[in-house]
Amino acid sequence: MRAGRRRGRLQSLGALALLPLLSLLAACGPKADRTAEQLYPEYCARCHGADGRGDPRNVNLYPNEDLTRSRLTGQGAHLLIYRRIAEGYGPMPGFAHRLSAVEIGRLADYSMKLNPANAERK
Ligand code: HEC
Repeated sequence: MRAGRRRGRLQSLGALALLPLLSLLAACGPKADRTAEQLYPEYCARCHGADGRGDPRNVNLYPNEDLTRSRLTGQGAHLLIYRRIAEGYGPMPGFAHRLSAVEIGRLADYSMKLNPANAERK
């Protein structure tokens, strides 16, 4: 009987000790998905330029860095563009560990719209 009571007290102490951990986890929880307009300047513009035309120093070597004319944005190949953003492509790093799936999807749409061939696409 006594031992049972002690175990009960220990268990509630254990639960108390978990509380700060739980609130920490809640604070690190999933953040709201950001829009492409918020993400692009922060993650993409340093290489692709604010207007998507790429860095003039690199675009000769990597013509697909110019998203206004690149092959995939011209084709409107959403799935392939999604994969390149998520997994990386040549010198471009992958973003799967930094951005949510919804955010990568929005950036794929945004990349396609930078190409006049797809500007009308919704
Ligand atoms: C470190 C520089 C760098 C950053 C940062 C970067 N990219 Fe890239 N990206 C490139 C380069 C260079 C290429 C072309 C690679 C090649 O052709 O081998 C490319 C290719 C692409 C392509 C493929 C275009 C095609 O037709 O093949 C897309 C789409 C793209 N980037 C979108 C993005 C988005 C969206 C972001 C931000 C989340 C981003 N990139 C961040 C350098 C970068």
